[in-house]
Amino acid sequence: MLVLHGPNLNLLGRREPEVYGTQTLEGIDAELRALGAELGIDVDCAQHNGEGELVTVIGEAVGRYDGIVINPAAYTHTSVAVRDALAAVGGMGVPSVEVHLSQPAARESFRHRSLVAAVCRGSVAGFGPDGYRLALRGLHGILRAGGGR
Ligand code: DQA
Repeated sequence: MLVLHGPNLNLLGRREPEVYGTQTLEGIDAELRALGAELGIDVDCAQHNGEGELVTVIGEAVGRYDGIVINPAAYTHTSVAVRDALAAVGGMGVPSVEVHLSQPAARESFRHRSLVAAVCRGSVAGFGPDGYRLALRGLHGILRAGGGR
């Protein structure tokens, strides 16, 4: 599985802790790898601030990964390119699940629209770092039940 973190998530732990909590990205990734070991799956984690880098990594997931857990961060609300990349690999059998630490629907109106939700198999929001593990378990379940689209 590929876990992808979008812009500014490298600052977790120090970034607006009242919104995003105090756990670092390194801590989240370590817990995801531990959960992967428990589930018997390999978990690779990556963070990119650039939209193009995210698009490239998503496109390269075909043939390398069975699924993607992604927090596109601000690009959730703006990026047709990230949406199209997820739709493309979804159509090639690599499903994605969207994660948000916070609950965007309860925040500013510009966060209410997700461009990626419609091309993801599921969405998890509002549970803080636990959301990543819920998404990984959910995606694992989807793949065990028969896989991609
Ligand atoms: C976020 C929510 C987004 O609106 C925001 O731009 C982020 C983080 C979240 O995890 O809650 O950077 O995706």
